[in-house]
Amino acid sequence: MTPRRTGATRLVAVVAAAAARRDDAGAATDDDVASQPAPLSRSAVLRRLVAPSLAAALLAPAVAAAAAQGATATAAAAAPAASPRALRPPELAALRAAFAAAAPKSKAPVLLRLVFHDAGTFDRAAGDGGANGSVRLELDRPENGGLKRGWRVIEATRRELEKQAAASGGGGSGGLGGGGGGNAAKTAAATTAGQAAAGLASLLSDGDLIALAGAHAVEVTGGPADLLGRVRVGRADAATPDPAGRLPSEDSAPAALVAAFEAMSLSAGEMVALSGAHTLGTKGFGDPVTFDNSYYTTLLARPWDDPKTPMPTMIGLPSDRMLPGDARCLAAIERYARDQALFFGDFSDAYVRLTELGASWRPLGA
Ligand code: HEM
Repeated sequence: MTPRRTGATRLVAVVAAAAARRDDAGAATDDDVASQPAPLSRSAVLRRLVAPSLAAALLAPAVAAAAAQGATATAAAAAPAASPRALRPPELAALRAAFAAAAPKSKAPVLLRLVFHDAGTFDRAAGDGGANGSVRLELDRPENGGLKRGWRVIEATRRELEKQAAASGGGGSGGLGGGGGGNAAKTAAATTAGQAAAGLASLLSDGDLIALAGAHAVEVTGGPADLLGRVRVGRADAATPDPAGRLPSEDSAPAALVAAFEAMSLSAGEMVALSGAHTLGTKGFGDPVTFDNSYYTTLLARPWDDPKTPMPTMIGLPSDRMLPGDARCLAAIERYARDQALFFGDFSDAYVRLTELGASWRPLGA
């Protein structure tokens, strides 16, 4: 029997079609992308069907109205609760394999920066912005210069997950032919990995993948090794760009930085811990692709004051250099310069908070 097409399902179909059109339009304006992105895959359409907050917002009233009219409320009854969760071991393994293929260490700095520019638009007072994948719609803003390179890595990682899934028979049950004999265990493992990859390709929103990619960036450069497993998934992607002008400027004095982070609902302490991300990249805080506490040791050493330092203006951002001028920030900088393990712990905690700012969680199913 053909299931009855409710107003809710019609709305979701419309939203899915609109999401697909939106993606096509977004891709066409990205002149920095060398090759045109692949057309939307089945999993991408499915993800948009169940993920976007717009779909959730439209679906909820429609389902409620249907129930109130005494219509079969199967969809509402079957809908799982919206609760984020960490990735399971086979999912983590599949994701690590995809990152290994698509996100080399050299991309770590831009990936970690992409996370801040996605989530850092959250404004507690306004109640909007945050970790919602909207940075993909904001790549032409001046403050996001250079981030298209990072977004391309996110797209490549998704394609890699889809490739892994296809290579193992689409991850569906019985997708792989019988391995036979001694290959049976190997085949079973490949099937499990493929199923995990297939599940991930549709499970992960763009916001999820950005948050996970930043954790991968930290791990692959020698930072806290358990960060990927701490990032919960289930973020709904925004359909429209976040308001502009919310990220702090590189000329900000410490008080302005603290105020900007407090507006995001992050504390001064979390701001100092997260700023240690600048250990990655080419601003002169040690090796550009080694995540360690050299950001803090360099801030205390003040090499830009040393007349023998070549091109001293290339070291640190003005906002970084001013940070030790604030007594609260200085105390934290000194602690992290002395104790890298403390920095790693505090950075991880703050990173998890950053990547959940303003997140609107969608139902994930079992
Ligand atoms: C405290 C306020 C912050 C300001 C004012 C700021 C500003 C900047 C600026 C101007 C750059 C240089 C971009 C370029 O090279 O063109 C940069 C780089 C970077 N930022 Fe921040 N940032 C801040 C906080 C953060 C946070 C919280 C994170 C991540 C948790 C982060 C991650 C990065 C990374 C990894 C880079 C290096 C990117 C690369 O070399 O490709 N930043 N930041």
